[in-house]
Amino acid sequence: MSNQILLFDTTLRDGEQALAASLTVKEKLQIAFALERLGVDIIEAGFPVSSPGDFESVRAIAQQIKHARVCGLARALEKDIDACGEALRVAEQFRIHTFIATSEIHVSEKLRKSNDAVLEMAVAAVKHARKYTDDVEFSCEDAGRTHIDYLCRITEAAINAGAKTINIPDTVGYTTPTEFGGIIQTLFNRVPNIDKATISVHCHNDLGLAVANSLAAVEQGARQIECTINGIGERAGNCALEEIAMILQTREDLLGLQTNINSGEISRTSKLVSNLCNMPVQSNKAIVGANAFSHSSGIHQDGVLKAQNTYEIMTPESVGINKNSLNLTSRSGRHVIKHRMHELGYQDDDFDLTRLYDDFLELADKKGQVFDYDLEALVFFDQIKQEETQYELKYLHASAGQSVIPSATVEMRIGQQEIKQVAIGSGPLEAAYNAILNVTGIEAFELVDFKLDSKGEGADALAQVSLIGEYKGRKFNGVGLSTDIVEAGVNALIYVLNNTYLADKIDQQKQQKIAGI
Ligand code: KIV
Ligand code: ZN
Repeated sequence: MSNQILLFDTTLRDGEQALAASLTVKEKLQIAFALERLGVDIIEAGFPVSSPGDFESVRAIAQQIKHARVCGLARALEKDIDACGEALRVAEQFRIHTFIATSEIHVSEKLRKSNDAVLEMAVAAVKHARKYTDDVEFSCEDAGRTHIDYLCRITEAAINAGAKTINIPDTVGYTTPTEFGGIIQTLFNRVPNIDKATISVHCHNDLGLAVANSLAAVEQGARQIECTINGIGERAGNCALEEIAMILQTREDLLGLQTNINSGEISRTSKLVSNLCNMPVQSNKAIVGANAFSHSSGIHQDGVLKAQNTYEIMTPESVGINKNSLNLTSRSGRHVIKHRMHELGYQDDDFDLTRLYDDFLELADKKGQVFDYDLEALVFFDQIKQEETQYELKYLHASAGQSVIPSATVEMRIGQQEIKQVAIGSGPLEAAYNAILNVTGIEAFELVDFKLDSKGEGADALAQVSLIGEYKGRKFNGVGLSTDIVEAGVNALIYVLNNTYLADKIDQQKQQKIAGI
């Protein structure tokens, strides 16, 4: 049996389906490129039949990702599989992942079918998917609570029908490591054709055991792990990619297993996903939390200064966290910024040096010293600026204070027109929001969540505003950054409004397609 573990990333499918607001096609593409750089073997890009937006994203990812295999999810239904095949056919290499529930409670209560009928549907779905590709994965949803005899039977039937990967999900995160490892062991002992497929696992984290259960499974012979960046996913989430990858890397001495992950990309990918998905990472989170490599107690600090491995089992550098050795100020030249970006793990085509340097100088003028997290934030915000923006802020002035009515003046570009507007509010930010919403004339918009974070330390830290807005029954994310809190909030609102504009445009195109225009 091979020692290579395939990492199947489902951030864009299982992770995305748990977000308050869905990602745009552009945001999903950005994450897909980051996953490719990280070295994941398979990217589950979405569930094409679920919405036109998901279909578009899967197609765009299938078109542009060249090194990882792109996968789409489908229920065991012909229309789902056809949508997957249609979205994926532009890919260099692709996989169709079809699934049906197999536990007694799901089969009888949710599907209201017999075990035999479900088995027939599974076999038919795998055969149908094989018309599009040789690479078909079949999942037994809620396998963790499925009767083992039936799990063996349906696994054998799906392999005979042509599935090359059989995925065993612990959909509700119910099993314990010994129990879940035992299920995998039993499949290897009892399914006669098991050697014709790769066994995969997909563990949820309801009891905090997703990573432990995935590890127990590979110790029993599973060779694919389904996981997500920062462990995002339904409810308590999925097995965290960064954790399982670093377990396999750090304890290769014990486990003897390898992955294709380029661990130096972990930190950057984690930040990107956290920012775009509006999902903060807890500071004590293993591998990617802000405190994962910081030592607080005097005894620990003393130990680390004498020998790093007294209290560090892996280095921060191994996951892409580099310590800044250069003082970056407005006197630093372009080549210094380029050099620092390379040290941070970025390649030349990951950023536009001219724009980054201009933004850097502007920030350095405001802050004095610029830190790594500032540079990374500038690159991130440069990347998420939409190519085609309907709304752009040209001017902002907000005033507030004791015994004054907070007011704001904004000047906006809307399409080709530039319009000015003044408004008041209960604070300067609300005043600016009122002015923007008045000037854009968008009525169906409601702000449902607003978060303010600081990027960095001290009073001159950058303010990051993440918000969620509801528009025509759908939720949209927005994020904005500035040394000024009001400006950060305004940038976040304009980001959301541009996304609503793009969504309207995609819907219009779809309507025109349906009407044959
Ligand atoms: O948790 C689950 O069972 C799933 C399947 C669709 C693989 O996400
Ligand atoms: Zn899942």
